Amino acid sequence: MVSTPGPVRLEGREKVTGTARYAAEHMPPGMAYAWPVPAAVPRGRVVAIDAGAALAEPGAVAVLTHENAPRLKETDDGALLVLQNDRVPHRGWYVALAVAETPEAARAMAAAVRVSYAPEEHDVVLTPGHPRLFAPDVVNPGIPGSRERGDFDSAYASAPVRVDATYTMRALHNHPMEPHATTARWEDGRLVAYDSCQGANAVQEALAGLFGMDKERITVVAEHVGGGFGCKGTPRPQVVLAAMAARHTSRPVRLVLPRAQLAAIVGHRAPLVQRVRLGAGEDGEITALAHEVTTQTSTVREFVEQAAAPSRAMYVSPNSRTTHRVVALDVPSPSWMRAPGEAPGMFALECAMDELAYAAGVDPVELRVRNDSAAEPDSGKPYSSRHLVECLREGARRFGWDTRDPRPRSRAEGRLLVGTGAASSCYPVFHMPSSAEVHVTEAGRYRVRINATDIGTGARTVVAVIAAEALGVALDRVAIEIGSSDLPAAWLAGGSGGTGSWGWAVHKACRALIEMVEGRGGTVPPGGLTATADTTGDIPSDPPHAMASFGAQFAEVTVDTDTGEVRVRRLLGVFAAGRILNARTARSQFIGGMTMGVGMALLEGSTMDPRFGDFAERDLASYHVPTHADIHGIEAHWIDETDPVLNPMGSKGIGEIGIVGTAAAVANAVHHATGVRVRDLPITPEKLL
Ligand code: MOS
Repeated sequence: MVSTPGPVRLEGREKVTGTARYAAEHMPPGMAYAWPVPAAVPRGRVVAIDAGAALAEPGAVAVLTHENAPRLKETDDGALLVLQNDRVPHRGWYVALAVAETPEAARAMAAAVRVSYAPEEHDVVLTPGHPRLFAPDVVNPGIPGSRERGDFDSAYASAPVRVDATYTMRALHNHPMEPHATTARWEDGRLVAYDSCQGANAVQEALAGLFGMDKERITVVAEHVGGGFGCKGTPRPQVVLAAMAARHTSRPVRLVLPRAQLAAIVGHRAPLVQRVRLGAGEDGEITALAHEVTTQTSTVREFVEQAAAPSRAMYVSPNSRTTHRVVALDVPSPSWMRAPGEAPGMFALECAMDELAYAAGVDPVELRVRNDSAAEPDSGKPYSSRHLVECLREGARRFGWDTRDPRPRSRAEGRLLVGTGAASSCYPVFHMPSSAEVHVTEAGRYRVRINATDIGTGARTVVAVIAAEALGVALDRVAIEIGSSDLPAAWLAGGSGGTGSWGWAVHKACRALIEMVEGRGGTVPPGGLTATADTTGDIPSDPPHAMASFGAQFAEVTVDTDTGEVRVRRLLGVFAAGRILNARTARSQFIGGMTMGVGMALLEGSTMDPRFGDFAERDLASYHVPTHADIHGIEAHWIDETDPVLNPMGSKGIGEIGIVGTAAAVANAVHHATGVRVRDLPITPEKLL
């Protein structure tokens, strides 16, 4: 692959000079500041709230509680129904909101609110034999909870080579640099909210439902967003609370969630117990595959991490069982986290594949090649393009896999054991209906308007690249307007489906504009011309092809035999993700995902304290994410794929696949280095000593 660097971010200068404004940087006149009060018991009822001392604080404006807060209409997402009743479904659930003249005063007020509780017994511990476990019909994002093909039990029983392994992981949390924040104001019955979110249309719709308003009377702006990873994919309590407080106080209100409260409020990747059984022939060809997932949700809303989903898509498996079981505990509500399903599911499946490679005596890369499937095993649909084998081969070549001695503990440098591991990556392609508008001036300047969201990925820039290409003009002739619900409605920045969904609408609008201009003999009138497009009718609901991005990751680790510390010395990924539209920002997405995968492998984990009833990690000093010092020799490459089926750009999503497979590649490398199979994430030193 030889590629030009690709255009720089259009808003890069604004960001580095501090002129790009994020949700908490809007300063409407007369603004007040809010600070939430989290529940201090893991379950029960609020018996009384005494706001007297809080309201006596200097600068106090108001205290909202379930007794005086605006009433909200019912919604599917119970986590948004804040301050509506006295119930405490989990520790950290908001029971009051202090509003003051300054953030400091609001924080002091929140500390002074006296809440009395009637605590109840709580249950926050996921156990594989929990009596309330059940098998949900549907798991996220709306796929069947259980699938059976063929006869797994007989095929597994008669397989000459078998692996039966259980992989576990604690809860994980997204910790975007910018915490969840909203600045909200009401103006003549209209609500305007600057919100840190992955899609303003979803927030606008949620607010319309909760406040019983026409959505035309609500504007949600998300012009710049400092990271999302899924925890801003759905509307979050801060936008509802800020809007309630602004209505209650008749002032603009800003609410920035304190990082210490995020773990209980904005979702987590639920802890998982994953049992994987693989039965294969002597040659390593899989004849039976079972992936059985046990996880948790909350009592507030059901969210089931679809960790068995990738086992329906990856390898030939004539006899297959993929199931999920879940229990509703008194825990915060789990939610989206980068590559939901695939990231944890592929940790389990790809470690099991490594175990199978050793059991069958087949090279781990070769084993994956042998079990490649041209069609999606579960649906039987052919892939529009796949190239997993090419990624594996190209990655092996670049990494120098062929020189590897497969024997565990075969390589040492002083007190360091050195090992290498490989794993596959995958992530499905999603397209969602979107609309866009393109305007051309008489002078041949173009303006694209679409409610795309840039959560740090370079969305503005790639939308411009797509428009310039569709229009056949230079990039600097195209201006981009994104990040507001007042613009043509579009899908959010989630499911790695942003670029494909927005680009499709933008491309269609550009083509329509070209036709308009051509219809006028190539002339543009003084007022310019405007074309709009909507892809609702263009995206097939049941496409004839399966569509997904694939990849292969290779890790080299060192394990310190004195301290047990694992370091990732090299990490190399090769991806097949359709046409890469901007090499510069695509590379950032891939290595960003891979870096997050290193965190998942070695550092990240939220610990549920069974007695306290909440996660112990409250800041980035205790919830560890990789820093620059943790990342060495990271490389992302890609195979140029031409796929006419996908969308007019021929692109696939790239935002999430980078995190998929990384943890398995690292864990497999740790096994190769040490001979120790760590099946519990993160791989911390004590597990190796
Ligand atoms: Mo991502 S977890 O699909 O926002």
